[in-house]
Amino acid sequence: MGVSGSGKTTVGKVLAKKMRLPFYDGDDYHSKENLDKMKSGLPLNDIDRAGWLKSLNEVAKTAFSDEGAIFACSALKENYRETLRSGINGPVHFVFLEGQPKLIKKRMRERSHFMPPQLLESQFESLEVPAYALKISIEESPVEIVNKIISHMNQLEFGVAGIGVMGRSISRNLATKGFRLALFNRNVPGKEEKVAATLIDKHSELRDSVGFEDLKAFVNSLQKPRKILLMVDAGAAVDAMIDQLTPHLKAGDIVIDGGNSFYRDTQKRTLSLAKKGIYFMGCGISGGESGALIGPAIMPGGDKKAYEKVESFLVHIAARDERGMACCAYVGPAGSGHFVKMVHNGIEYAEMQLIAEIYEIMRFGKGMDPDQIARVFEKWNEGYNSSYLLEITAAILKVKEKGKWIVDLILDNAGSKGTGSWTAEEAIQSGLPYTLVHAALNARFLSSQKTMRQKLERRYKSSICPIGKLSNDTLAEAFYMARIINHHQGFSLIRYASEKNDWQINLEVLAGVWTNGCIIRSSLMGQCRMVFEKTASLPEEKHIKKTLHQYHPKLLTVVSKAIKAGLDIPCLSASANYFNGITNGQANANIIQAQRDYFGAHTFRWKNDPEGANIHYPWI
Ligand code: 6PG
Repeated sequence: MGVSGSGKTTVGKVLAKKMRLPFYDGDDYHSKENLDKMKSGLPLNDIDRAGWLKSLNEVAKTAFSDEGAIFACSALKENYRETLRSGINGPVHFVFLEGQPKLIKKRMRERSHFMPPQLLESQFESLEVPAYALKISIEESPVEIVNKIISHMNQLEFGVAGIGVMGRSISRNLATKGFRLALFNRNVPGKEEKVAATLIDKHSELRDSVGFEDLKAFVNSLQKPRKILLMVDAGAAVDAMIDQLTPHLKAGDIVIDGGNSFYRDTQKRTLSLAKKGIYFMGCGISGGESGALIGPAIMPGGDKKAYEKVESFLVHIAARDERGMACCAYVGPAGSGHFVKMVHNGIEYAEMQLIAEIYEIMRFGKGMDPDQIARVFEKWNEGYNSSYLLEITAAILKVKEKGKWIVDLILDNAGSKGTGSWTAEEAIQSGLPYTLVHAALNARFLSSQKTMRQKLERRYKSSICPIGKLSNDTLAEAFYMARIINHHQGFSLIRYASEKNDWQINLEVLAGVWTNGCIIRSSLMGQCRMVFEKTASLPEEKHIKKTLHQYHPKLLTVVSKAIKAGLDIPCLSASANYFNGITNGQANANIIQAQRDYFGAHTFRWKNDPEGANIHYPWI
């Protein structure tokens, strides 16, 4: 690619011959009208070029499906390049031949071509240089240019460091899309030996990839700027990996952290690597082991220019939404990618807990067995409550181990790795009520007090009594309402952080990314995406408002009946409390203010003068 006169045809022909690939020249595909227009000294516009690019894309789709091909095309604008590569299954590499207008004009005068030199200026005006292209100066000879392209192509395109569960799946996903990878895993004698090489041997899609246990060789095998995805555990392992990698990296290289790192750590790491000119990106990846393999949701944050260089890798491996768009979109500056992944997990915690509470009500309040519950969940999953988490819970509930329900054999003590607590802490620091994440987190903490729970169960002879008449439809509606509250609280936290940090996160785009591939994908998420087209506040949108109005009494019924039956339903009740509170213009905080002022002279303001002076009242 490059402006007219930059040498695309000459270089393309030499390159095609050397690589033994067919060569296609864009010039040969212009319509007569286009040729006449250019010959008469008029530049082509977007409309003129549209048909030409489309016909080139048709040729490219067939040519690329074989061994590959070399194309010469000016491909000046990003949307032209999008047309050119659309529908091509596999990577398309762009080589940009760059040169000064003066030199190009001189060359144009010396050749015979339909394009008159006076059109060069308009070509430069249209030119949008792609960050991801290999850029080579046209001052070098065609042979030198071709050698550079070939040596670049011989190097590996993308590095993955850390071949654990997620690293394995992501690598296989990348390789399936045609990327040639450098895979690094450390060598721990007796524990982790030849991990990358073994993975490559096992999976044929990785045949063009190379395994490494030596970091320097791994880095040197990669095309510049190097693009390296870290798939190591969040925390100290990320810092250790960065420390070992940095001496081998050069300014302009890009390191992407694909783990669940804390976003403030990501911000610190970004700053420290920026001092060396190295880009660091924090990239949330959701979907677990199988999602990573077949298409996760990807949330990259960091320098936009660096993102553009890795975009095609990430977009290719991401899931697709119902419109066919990639579930991967640039989130915002440093830290924002990991921030939204953190909140994703907060929403995940509350969604999981809500399902667990509905299960508890059905199982112990209504006396249903796991199979019956699974059948109800499967039915719900065909409608407005459908979600990945509900789907897997239905599947889990049907599993039996030696004749017993597996759920009855699993210890009721929930673990957590950090993202849920960080979301709760972030909400506290922001002064925002993310009550469902606190409730879900506390439920996990309470579950871990197993011995105490058993002791007090005996002491208080606690017993759960039947819940009475409560239909599954009422439960479904209460569940849906609680889920809306959970999503509202989660997205509000993101909106707040985005405004505070000037991240400019687009909630509609983010919700779109979360409609597939990730753990919290659901039909409600699709609904959120549509709401965010119009407003940033879920409860203020008219359809959501109608639903909340309708389902509120159901939620209250479920919560009161379940509590009375002796069940522990912290997330359902937190959502009822939140809704009662947020829809109440008169809170009870006047009492709190009076108490604070009484014992500590903390002052208050008069209701009829909210912006007025702080008052200390002479209580005694
Ligand atoms: C995902 C998951 C993933 C992981 C959670 C589990 O989006 O793919 O959220 O990131 O499974 O971190 O978190 P806990 O172990 O804290 O439940």
